[in-house]
Amino acid sequence: MRFLIVGGSGLLGGELVRRCSAAGHEVAATYLTRPGETAGVEWSPLDVRRREDVGALIGAFRPEAVVNAAYRQADWTTTAVGAANVALAVSAAGGRLVHVSSDAVFSGAAIRYDETCVPDPITPYGAAKAAAETAVTAIAPTAVIARTSLIIGDGGSPHEALVHSLATGRERGVLFTDDVRCPVHVADLATALLELAASGHHGVHHVAGADAVSRYELGLLIARRDGLDVDRLPSGRRADSGVPGPLDVRLECGTTRRRLRTELRGARRFLR
Ligand SMILES: NC(=O)c1ccc[n+]([C@@H]2O[C@H](COP(=O)([O-])OP(=O)(O)OC[C@H]3O[C@@H](n4cnc5c(N)ncnc54)[C@H](OP(=O)(O)O)[C@@H]3O)[C@@H](O)[C@H]2O)c1
Repeated sequence: MRFLIVGGSGLLGGELVRRCSAAGHEVAATYLTRPGETAGVEWSPLDVRRREDVGALIGAFRPEAVVNAAYRQADWTTTAVGAANVALAVSAAGGRLVHVSSDAVFSGAAIRYDETCVPDPITPYGAAKAAAETAVTAIAPTAVIARTSLIIGDGGSPHEALVHSLATGRERGVLFTDDVRCPVHVADLATALLELAASGHHGVHHVAGADAVSRYELGLLIARRDGLDVDRLPSGRRADSGVPGPLDVRLECGTTRRRLRTELRGARRFLR
């Protein structure tokens, strides 16, 4: 297949590019500030905020499937408007769209959220991701909206970097014991997204790991895997910290799991 990975230079995008390439697909990928390192891939600069540029690139490459992994947490225009621009371009050119969304669309009031749950965001980032979902669904009804949770790599994610910084005293802070998510391994996530891209499914899918763990438990798992001193990991309660945002958000993935061959391992397993 001809794949375009938008945001191919990022954590998830890079894994998607490597997996597509290794599977023998024709792959093009975009970056904003720096191209990725996978060879044999057509790298193009693209700012998703520029609607005409997005249309021109997708119109010229005519991918059979686009995965949009581009976002900027503090930038509404990139996260929400950019997602709409990608959906408009895919809709005009034809082809499949997999849009990557987040558990941040939920407030945590209900704790457990399945694929039928409606967003109730309580942060600007969550609101931008929810707006993106709404726009993508309206513009490209056959698109897959793939909500995911904390993405963990084999050392490459910001969450792992934070644990290393805290355990070695390079950074001060705490890991919350009451802030719970369903972390997913970047390899499982990328494989599942490519499977969805090649399928006929559409609409909301939940693509998260099988275990609900707190940020502190996740930190302990990462520290043990990497041989760090777990006693140096500081813990605290988010509820006492005044840091705004959802506490306990668990993506229930039952409907999505039944559709996928790809297994979505839990953090207790993939960090063992
Ligand atoms: N990381 C997590 O734990 C997590 C959790 C839940 C959901 N998600 C979702 O997963 C997706 C991927 O996350 P990630 O952690 O892989 O992100 P990331 O590593 O920060 O990568 C973001 C990508 O977007 C690109 N980008 C940023 N602004 C852009 C713009 N204006 N136009 C075009 N490209 C732009 C970046 O390009 P440059 O690198 O060249 O600047 C990079 O390729 C996002 O949709 C995010 O909401 C992530």
